[in-house]
Amino acid sequence: MHWNAFVAYFAIASCVTHGNLEPFLESTETHIRTKEGSSAILTCIVTNMQQNRRVKWYTPDGNTISINDKIYTSDRRMSILQPLPGTWSLRIQGVRQRDSGLYRCILDTEPVQTKNVNLHVQVPPRISASDHTSVGVGKRLELWCNVTGEPTPEVRWFKDNTPLLEHTSEHCIVESTSMRDKGAYECVAENGVTPSATANINVDILFPPNVTCLIERIGQFVNRQTKIECKVVANPEATVTWYHDATPLKQTWKYRIESFSEDGETRHSLSITTLERFDFGKYICFATNSEGSGSSATHVYEMQTRSTPSSTTSSSSTASTATSTFLIESTPTTKSVPTPSIHSSSNPQISATYTYVITTHSSEQVAGQSNSASITIYRCPYVILTVALIWIESNHA
Ligand SMILES: *[C@@H]1O[C@H](CO)[C@@H](O)[C@H](O)[C@H]1NC(C)=O
Ligand SMILES: *[C@@H]1O[C@H](CO)[C@@H](O)[C@H](O)[C@H]1NC(C)=O
Repeated sequence: MHWNAFVAYFAIASCVTHGNLEPFLESTETHIRTKEGSSAILTCIVTNMQQNRRVKWYTPDGNTISINDKIYTSDRRMSILQPLPGTWSLRIQGVRQRDSGLYRCILDTEPVQTKNVNLHVQVPPRISASDHTSVGVGKRLELWCNVTGEPTPEVRWFKDNTPLLEHTSEHCIVESTSMRDKGAYECVAENGVTPSATANINVDILFPPNVTCLIERIGQFVNRQTKIECKVVANPEATVTWYHDATPLKQTWKYRIESFSEDGETRHSLSITTLERFDFGKYICFATNSEGSGSSATHVYEMQTRSTPSSTTSSSSTASTATSTFLIESTPTTKSVPTPSIHSSSNPQISATYTYVITTHSSEQVAGQSNSASITIYRCPYVILTVALIWIESNHA
């Protein structure tokens, strides 16, 4: 009984005084994850520490940071904390991505004891991307969303808020663009470290001008005016030049050139104030932009007025002209427009021939001569009948 009690007493005593037990470094390798900018604490614990022993911290590239509580580096972000006896914690303030690596805490026993601490500095995603891209239709579209971050971020793409599931890398490529590829693209980068990052890239699809003249053929009389219109759809906006046959036209007293834009298309018009014989012919609306050019033409042809009735001799006649416009209601089945009859209340001897022009709502023009009563079917409720009168006063002696 007495012997047992003695042994127990001896064991307790050595625990309290640390007696002659060897110093021991807790050496389980650890991993520490710290977000960029905050402080990292790397812990090293020694039990049974002895006065003559040294605890040293080393950087990942092998430089001494500290010996016991003394700092040997010029990096002022590093310090040793001793929250408890036997604990040497290395604190690194404001960690940066390049601080990542394997730190070593070494106790100089024989052999030395080592604790490895892996510091992983986590960096939220950052994106560098262009904010606007223009590409020609049919060309290759290459969008970059270059990301940095630790761990490597995952990238997701959206177009007009719809996920593009097939695109998961830093680039989003469309081999041959179409008009549908225009839009607002967004890439989102995430790696579990907040905040995540997004970038917006607006994509514009460029295409050459598409030119459409509203009317292919316009008939008009000499000395009258006419207006030719075309619409141009282009991106970027096109420069338009009007040509009469091969001659480019400028704004003058004779030509009025106008344009206005609406809903992505531009309407261009050319008004010719007084048509002379040489003004008849082909008018071309030619549009050009960085992607190419396009054109469309309208023919302006001369309408004839016949002024020589067979029963009279021109030598004894005087010709006069007058114009009137009437609105005639017609139904979709109207096959003919009533032929206007002309008579003079003052002189029944006046014989007249006349020419008429029918203008439908779509601006098509139909010309005719008197007494050709049947005209084509009109599909609009109203036709405008313009009567150009040429009457000949004959002196029947
Ligand atoms: C993204 O990276 C690629 C390939 O390294 C490079 O060609 C491109 O210019 C970069 N784009 C941006 C916006 O940084
Ligand atoms: C050009 O415009 C016309 C009329 O707006 C359209 O029918 C045609 O498809 C367009 N052509 C092209 C190549 O876009």
